[in-house]
Amino acid sequence: MTDLLQMIKEASNKIKDFSNNFKPQIGMILGTGLGALGKEINAKVIIDYKDIPHFPLSTVETHSGKLILGEMSGKNVVAMSGRFHRYEGYSMQQITFPVRVMKELGITYLLISNAAGGLNPQFKAGELAIIEDIINFMGDNPLIGKNYNELGPRWPDMIEPISRKLIKYAEDAAKELNIKINKGVYIGVTGPNLETRAEYRMFRNFADMVGMSTIPEIIVGVHSGLKILGVSVITDECDPDHLEPADIVKIIRNAQEAEPKLTAIMKKVIEKI
Ligand code: HPA
Repeated sequence: MTDLLQMIKEASNKIKDFSNNFKPQIGMILGTGLGALGKEINAKVIIDYKDIPHFPLSTVETHSGKLILGEMSGKNVVAMSGRFHRYEGYSMQQITFPVRVMKELGITYLLISNAAGGLNPQFKAGELAIIEDIINFMGDNPLIGKNYNELGPRWPDMIEPISRKLIKYAEDAAKELNIKINKGVYIGVTGPNLETRAEYRMFRNFADMVGMSTIPEIIVGVHSGLKILGVSVITDECDPDHLEPADIVKIIRNAQEAEPKLTAIMKKVIEKI
């Protein structure tokens, strides 16, 4: 297999060729039903994942699989419209390859959005929640295997996986925009099945949101030394005693309805960076 460092170089060189050496400062990963944020970017180039060497291809219909490079709130950004999930069969290393490539392009900040179930009974569907800390319950880790010291340390610490400075920016932005925003611990599972009542009951004891993404990208972001912000859109309420059948259409609709609030906050956070 080609060496990871070489793969990162090949992918980033191709993107530099396509974009005339565009240098993004901020990377973004747009979650399920949350791609509209990408439309706010004054795009310089849009590249299909299939045209980037070693990029995995997105299989989920709601994810379009494009890298958008351009300007937003006066900053150079690169956004992934379409992300990869463990349940699609990708390895944790494949899922996080684009984070490595964005870092190689020059980003120092990584902003992540996702759709998540609300475990905290005070979090309502359609509301936003800042990820304050994470629990990796995916039974896997993107850093397993050979460590490249050029990319990061063998044993990265997790004292501040999410940047306190960016959390403050997001809270301030929400206040200025008069948008309600929650804050809590995100627990990541592989999916694709939703949780059992017993699992929701257990997770409620130590987390506020549950979802099937974001954990691998945060771990690799930390390994890469990036400052990270994650915001969840609460798409359903996970009350083990009043559980309703999962309605994926409704979950995606809830994400799309909350999207304008998320977009407004992310734009303001980018202004503050
Ligand atoms: N569980 C896991 N992932 C999710 C959920 C959920 O309830 N809602 C949205 N993504």
